[in-house]
Amino acid sequence: MTRVVVVYHSGYGHTEQVARHVALGAAEVAGVTAVLMSVADLDWDCLDAADAIIFGAPTYMGSVSAAFKQFMDDTSRVWFRQGWQDKLAAGFTNSGALSGDKQVAIQQLQTFAGQHGMLWVNFPLQPSGTGPDDVNRLGCNSGLMTQAENESPEVTPPAGDRRTAELFGRHVSERALRWCRGA
Ligand SMILES: Cc1cc2nc3c(=O)[nH]c(=O)nc-3n(C[C@H](O)[C@H](O)[C@H](O)COP(=O)(O)O)c2cc1C
Repeated sequence: MTRVVVVYHSGYGHTEQVARHVALGAAEVAGVTAVLMSVADLDWDCLDAADAIIFGAPTYMGSVSAAFKQFMDDTSRVWFRQGWQDKLAAGFTNSGALSGDKQVAIQQLQTFAGQHGMLWVNFPLQPSGTGPDDVNRLGCNSGLMTQAENESPEVTPPAGDRRTAELFGRHVSERALRWCRGA
């Protein structure tokens, strides 16, 4: 089985909701096992065994959250042995504003994956519009962006963002499967 791990931080539950939908989409692909993992409960052996790792963090102060950055720093032990080299990587972020400087967080995740010698998977989903039910309404192609109102994570991010998250997870899983077959 090809293994895709979604590792995330979420301070207030919104990014966790997105992560759940990413994992749901990733698990839709036959032959792929999707694992959802919080940075508060890390399983380093599971990460080491992954074929693809999807990183997810809220955007706080125009940056990945401090808790996610701590995880990034803690991976330096993996970096020393280049343990994640040639795994696929992808990233997502959720924030309160439509922009909110989310692109910075995506670029941080992309650079982080590069430090590990991972291969970044982009997200070529065309936006269907800019409404709450539309997919990729924020129009990001270098990763997944979602936006949450200041309400319960039960109701926000909206349905279109959740569907986009599932399509994103599915997209990464399909690439991981292809990458593993090629090996
Ligand atoms: C410390 C802090 C900093 C934030 N900075 C930003 C920001 O730079 N841009 C933005 O759009 N939203 C910002 N927000 C809003 C969060 O991104 C938003 O509430 C998000 O849904 C939180 O995700 P979470 O529930 O997974 O923690 C910030 C929130 C907090 C608590």
